[in-house]
Formats: sequence, C-alpha cells, structure tokens
Amino acid sequence: MRKKIIAGNWKMNILPSETEALVKAVAEATKDYAGKVDIVCCTPAIDVPAAVNAAKGTAVEIGAENCHWKASGAYTGEISTGMLLDAGAKYVIIGHSERRQYFGETDETVNLRSRAAIAAGLTAIVCVGETLEEREAGKLNEVIDRQMKLGLKDYTVADCEKLVIAYEPVWAIGTGKTATPDQAQEVHALIRAILVELFGSETAETVRIQYGGSMKPSNAAELLAKKDIDGGLIGGAALKAEDFAGIIAAAAQ
Ligand code: 13P
Repeated sequence: MRKKIIAGNWKMNILPSETEALVKAVAEATKDYAGKVDIVCCTPAIDVPAAVNAAKGTAVEIGAENCHWKASGAYTGEISTGMLLDAGAKYVIIGHSERRQYFGETDETVNLRSRAAIAAGLTAIVCVGETLEEREAGKLNEVIDRQMKLGLKDYTVADCEKLVIAYEPVWAIGTGKTATPDQAQEVHALIRAILVELFGSETAETVRIQYGGSMKPSNAAELLAKKDIDGGLIGGAALKAEDFAGIIAAAAQ
C-alpha cells in the first residue's frame, strides 16, 4: 500500500511574515491525520526557514518549489540543494508547468535539477502534464512519455525511493476545471506503465503519483479513490488551512 502524499504548492503567494500562521494552522487542522498521510507544504524559498520553524514538532514537512543542480557558484537568483537542506527542507518541486511555460524549464533541466535534489537527499516531486492543445491534438501519451523518459534519464532504482511524480494537466491548473477521476486515472496508469518500463514493476509499484489541478475538498475523495492516484499537489486550496485539511481528510479515508 502506497501512503498518500498531499503537498501544497504555495507558488508565489504568502509572505515570510504570514508563513508561520499558515503552517501552524495547517498543522492544527490536520493533526488527526498525522502519520496516516504525508503532509507537505512547498513554499517560496524565502519562506522555507519560517515554515520549517513553524512545523517543528508537527507532522507537516516543508519543501521548496525549485532548486539548481550545481552545489554553488555564479548562478544569480538560483537556490542550491545544500541551501534548502540547511534550511530544513525535505522536498522540492521540480519542473512545474509554470516553470516550463514561463521560465524556460526543459526536460533536460528537470532531469538535472531532480537528480541533484535526490543525490543531496531531498525528495523530488517531478511534475509532468500536457497542455490542452497537446491533448486535443492526440499527443497526450507522447508528451507524457517524453517528459517521463527525459526527466528521469539516468535515474537508478535507488533514486526512485526519493521520487514522487505529479501529474498536472496544464488545462486544469488554477482554472477550476478538474480532470475527471477516470481521465486522471488513465494518465496515472500510463505513468505507472512507463515506470514499469524504466525500473521494473516492483519499483514502479512503490512510486507515488500525485494528481494536481483544481483539487479541492469537494472532489478530492473521488480522485484519491482511484487505483493509481496516490495523493495531490495542491495550489489554490493549499493557501487556506481548512481547504487543505479537507483534502488531507479525504486522503486519510
Ligand atoms: P491549483 O490547485 O490552483 O489548480 O494548482 C495546481 C498546481 O499547479 C499545483 O502545483
């Protein structure tokens, strides 16, 4: 049985001065599910220290939203894995569609960043997902296959212990349009099949695959009931502790 993992992606929201209150509210609202579901808040890098501090002694774990693949050097504006670890982060989101769309992230940089994160001891949440145009052009399978195989190039079976995949159809992010549970399950099964091809079925069965895209308390239960949906990567609903807790409650069922 794969343990469900619900992670908030705060994106570019929440000030450092607002961080403690939100993390503490999440911890309080989800304390009944501690140990039953992995609960993660991925925050802007500048919020990580306050988030880690606020999460001490609770079941909430903290992650970031990106990292660079080099340990240090002349990379203005980037954050290293060592910096995230030093600040107490345990997770990092890699290759979110917003980074692919607006910041030139490619499958190759997703591979570099995620392998560096895992080598450093972070858990990488690697995002994949198609745009509406790609889906309508019948390219869904091709896009997912490419993102998975290039994104996970040179991964070992051992690396998969620190890997979570997030399937986020781009057309469902922040739009209020959720993939139906059947639509999501179909792609999750495809992702699982690619993991089998890459790493064998024993390893593929252990990797958790999150769904992301307008997941909220009202639709979480039916999505999370699907065989290959092992959690959620939550945007908007992660910014309100009650909503986030509602999704975690559904995951604990
Ligand atoms: P929403 O939950 O706001 O649709 O965002 C999903 C997402 O992009 C999480 O990474």
